[in-house]
Amino acid sequence: MRIKYTISIIFIVALVIIEKENNIISKVSDKLTPRLTPLTPLLMLSASMLSAAQHNVSTDASAHQHLSALENSTRSVQRSGGRKHILLLATTRTGSSFVGEFFNQQGSSMFYLFEPLWHVERMLTVESGGTNASVAAPAYRDVLRQLLLCDFSLLESFIEPPPQDHVTAALFRRESSRSLCEDLVCTPLVRKVFERYHCRERRCGPLNLTLATQSCMQKQHRVIKSVRVRQLETLRPLAEDPRLDMTFIQLVRDPRAVLASRMVAFSSKYDIWKRWAVDGDLPVDEDEVRKLKGNCDNIRTSAEIGLKQPPWLRGRYMLVRYEDIARFPMRKAAEMYDFIGIPFTAKVEEWILKNTQVSKEVSGVYSTQKNSSEQVEKWRFSIPFKLVQLVQKACGPTMTLFGYKFAENKDMLTDKSAKTTSS
Ligand SMILES: *[C@@H]1O[C@H](CO)[C@@H](O)[C@H](O)[C@H]1NC(C)=O
Ligand SMILES: *[C@@H]1O[C@H](CO)[C@@H](O)[C@H](O)[C@H]1NC(C)=O
Ligand SMILES: *[C@@H]1O[C@H](CO)[C@@H](O)[C@H](O)[C@H]1NC(C)=O
Ligand SMILES: *[C@@H]1O[C@H](CO)[C@@H](O)[C@H](O)[C@H]1NC(C)=O
Ligand SMILES: *[C@@H]1O[C@H](CO)[C@@H](O)[C@H](O)[C@H]1NC(C)=O
Repeated sequence: MRIKYTISIIFIVALVIIEKENNIISKVSDKLTPRLTPLTPLLMLSASMLSAAQHNVSTDASAHQHLSALENSTRSVQRSGGRKHILLLATTRTGSSFVGEFFNQQGSSMFYLFEPLWHVERMLTVESGGTNASVAAPAYRDVLRQLLLCDFSLLESFIEPPPQDHVTAALFRRESSRSLCEDLVCTPLVRKVFERYHCRERRCGPLNLTLATQSCMQKQHRVIKSVRVRQLETLRPLAEDPRLDMTFIQLVRDPRAVLASRMVAFSSKYDIWKRWAVDGDLPVDEDEVRKLKGNCDNIRTSAEIGLKQPPWLRGRYMLVRYEDIARFPMRKAAEMYDFIGIPFTAKVEEWILKNTQVSKEVSGVYSTQKNSSEQVEKWRFSIPFKLVQLVQKACGPTMTLFGYKFAENKDMLTDKSAKTTSS
């Protein structure tokens, strides 16, 4: 009995030492996974819990109890001490860059990547425009998985022009990841190299992805934001990968507001919608409507799976509405951190205070000024009612699922006292 127990303690301590040695667990885990799988919970133990277990071993019996309790509560142990892997999934114009900052600004323990799949989508775009989902989805999944494990090699094969010696001046929106511009990764500026997405707060040389990997390995948690994943289900292998402790945060927004916003942001792509809006007799382009419906259906299907909480997603899926973030950014950010199981930092709080109209005087930090709520609903006064009807028809079930209220006529749409969301 005693020998068995001693062996397990030694084994655990060895694992913790390895884990502390520069987080090499992620690096070696590729090879170890098959054998270590049943022990994965042990890898997640925090050092403090372990030393507690060690110091408290007065008798074999109590020690065994302690150990089996530790093994027993994998999920809660992971939640308190382990490394977290987070995917922030959204579609364009849903405020995902803003929400991404909640993580990018966390401080020194978060590795954040902004839209790495941009490169993948670009390379896989077919001549007719768009991507073939049966090709793109597995590529997205595999690139995300590698990146969450701090491995850039697969992504490298999608970067144009190809990186030389793992150095690239072409990484999309490098400057949007604090981790890719920090000391460790910021090499001396090379004057003759043009880097479109160069670091803004300081000047650095082109990105050395070997250093990016090192930076990633040093951080405790990893977050990737993407607007490119169509179906949550395609990421199931990530949730089931024992090397990853995944949380999926799905960010959604009223599809009518999304359309209104896209018509401004991607003006040329939405010409046809604008022409409909002004010319009542123009026939509706069925293709465009089908695309809109397809997008809405993808978002809804993903959310339905998430909300159903199948075993592979249990405790790992959170649905967040843009409208709630806009009204209560601080509260929502704190809720996300709490759900993931990592501490909310003063840095994030500061950033939110600085970048929203959150007012301390009006009703505490967890409230926003009325003004901000008005911003959220601005689209109601700019979008033609005809387009609202189209969206409501194409995206009805999606709107219902997320609690967005239908407007039956123009007056309802622009009635300031009527909210468009329910809680
Ligand atoms: C040691 O065990 C006691 C009683 O079982 C418990 O109250 C205490 O928190 C434990 N100490 C540590 C460091 O875990
Ligand atoms: C392990 O978990 C089960 C079910 O949650 C519980 O009944 C049992 O008491 C736990 N065992 C220990 C040693 O904590
Ligand atoms: C998508 O790619 C698959 C596999 O290459 C192919 O079988 C299928 O025909 C493609 N679909 C379309 C619509 O191009
Ligand atoms: C990138 O960084 C690594 C690690 O410091 C270094 O060994 C390598 O030489 C760098 N690559 C280039 C091309 O400078
Ligand atoms: C809303 O806030 C902006 C900036 O904070 C301010 O300039 C504007 O006057 C406010 N509008 C209303 C209606 O309160």
